[in-house]
Amino acid sequence: MSNLLKIIYNSGDWRNHSADAIAVGIYEDLKLSRQLQGVNKELGRGLSNALSGNIIEGKVGEVKIVVGKKGSIAIVYGLGKRNNLDSETLRKAGGAISKACIKNKIKSFSFLIPIDIKDNYMHQAAIEGLVLGSYQFNELKTTDTNHFSIKNATIYGVRKNTVDKGNKVAQGVCFARDLDNRPGNIATPSHLADNAKEIGKKGEMKVTIFERDKFTKMGMGALAGVASGTDVSPKFIIMEYMGGPKTQKPKILVGKGLTFDSGGISIKPSSKMDEMKYDMCGSGVVLGVMKIIQTLKPKINIIGIIPSTENMSGDKAYRPGDVLTAYNGKTIEVLNTDAEGRLILADALAYASKHYNPEYILDFATLTGAVVVALGHVATGIMGTDKKLINKIKASAVTTNEKVWEFPLWEEYLDQVKSNIADVKNVGAPMQAGTIAGGAFLKSFVKDDIPWCHFDIAGTAWGDKGLSYQNKGTATGEVIRLVVDLLGI
Ligand code: BES
Ligand code: MN
Ligand code: ZN
Repeated sequence: MSNLLKIIYNSGDWRNHSADAIAVGIYEDLKLSRQLQGVNKELGRGLSNALSGNIIEGKVGEVKIVVGKKGSIAIVYGLGKRNNLDSETLRKAGGAISKACIKNKIKSFSFLIPIDIKDNYMHQAAIEGLVLGSYQFNELKTTDTNHFSIKNATIYGVRKNTVDKGNKVAQGVCFARDLDNRPGNIATPSHLADNAKEIGKKGEMKVTIFERDKFTKMGMGALAGVASGTDVSPKFIIMEYMGGPKTQKPKILVGKGLTFDSGGISIKPSSKMDEMKYDMCGSGVVLGVMKIIQTLKPKINIIGIIPSTENMSGDKAYRPGDVLTAYNGKTIEVLNTDAEGRLILADALAYASKHYNPEYILDFATLTGAVVVALGHVATGIMGTDKKLINKIKASAVTTNEKVWEFPLWEEYLDQVKSNIADVKNVGAPMQAGTIAGGAFLKSFVKDDIPWCHFDIAGTAWGDKGLSYQNKGTATGEVIRLVVDLLGI
């Protein structure tokens, strides 16, 4: 959860503030703006002393705690070069401020944005940074004596709506991180379904859950195949939010909810197998976005779909060589039970294509290790069928600084997932273009005339870029902010 317990909007004069500390920004030119001169005065020349002692550099991400006479405290955050300022600078600053407060046990602070920064999205990013940077996953520790939460942050110089939006967006990301970080014995398919129902209840959404018997009878042979190796109840979850005009086509988000991926009979090596609790991070994206929709109540129509199961081995498990029939009637030869994500998504994409007339479908999945080889932890791999949609996604990725990189879905790659004995097979050419093979496979299950884009988040859903508003080695909640931007919420 976020360890910044309350964000308070204040339209008044910051000089009347009463918090334990005051956070102020400074550029690399180290010029004392009028605002900084005011803070300097409050600190009894604490800022000018720190500057003459070369303690402050003003670099992006830098945070220095300056203690003034009478014990007043300034948290000085760097903004880098004046001309290079962007929203990401402020998000990083926000994250670094929260982390510094937690480290130094500062219970409350006032947050000042330099008055020359007028852009609303930059303001929003700063608030996001504050909340995201305070995130910790502590709920399973019973003896954490060092735990510290910031009681409140009071925000000056930012519009009320912007404070509210930044906070709600970041809270949605933190909500998703909690789901993602929970281990496979806690974040089961039922846990995901319960969370979907809870969001639905609070957010006027219709939530439908298909149990194993039901989705099997309905013809979801791919999800049923993957789920055959586990007694932990698999679920097919549908969330419908119709906040927009009835005539408006819905947008559909599909998320891989694989709550633990052992690889099945084609078992994974044991090293790092624990990380496969993160194999439901695609569903984390969908639930995170739906959580934000629940709190922001935008006037749009949006559907979330989550196929969810574990992938286990055992006498009931599906086998390499098996042929499964997906919801759209296509047959799939399973050549590797560890390529299970694309199987459960196949049914979800086919279901979405058949039952709705969407503007577009996006799917999110920790689908391939190969995407980490190609892009590292830096960018999400995307591919799809509609140039316009892809371009919009790229633009949103630039806005939110969640990088995406497009892979081609050329005919040659589509050929690589054709099977000798069934319509398609669940692997591509050996050791080649593994991420594209995943996308090429999925394409068979989306109706041709529906714009669609696949997000392979295996490299970005957890792990780390060393960002102040993320935590090393845990879930990031990446691309949730991108989707919120794309949806125009
Ligand atoms: N969940 C994994 C992908 C994964 C691996 C994500 C490592 C993050 C880190 C997926 O189900 C999988 O096992 N994919 C296989 C596909 C292969 C068998 C064609 C892979 O990437 O090795
Ligand atoms: Mn797998
Ligand atoms: Zn998987």
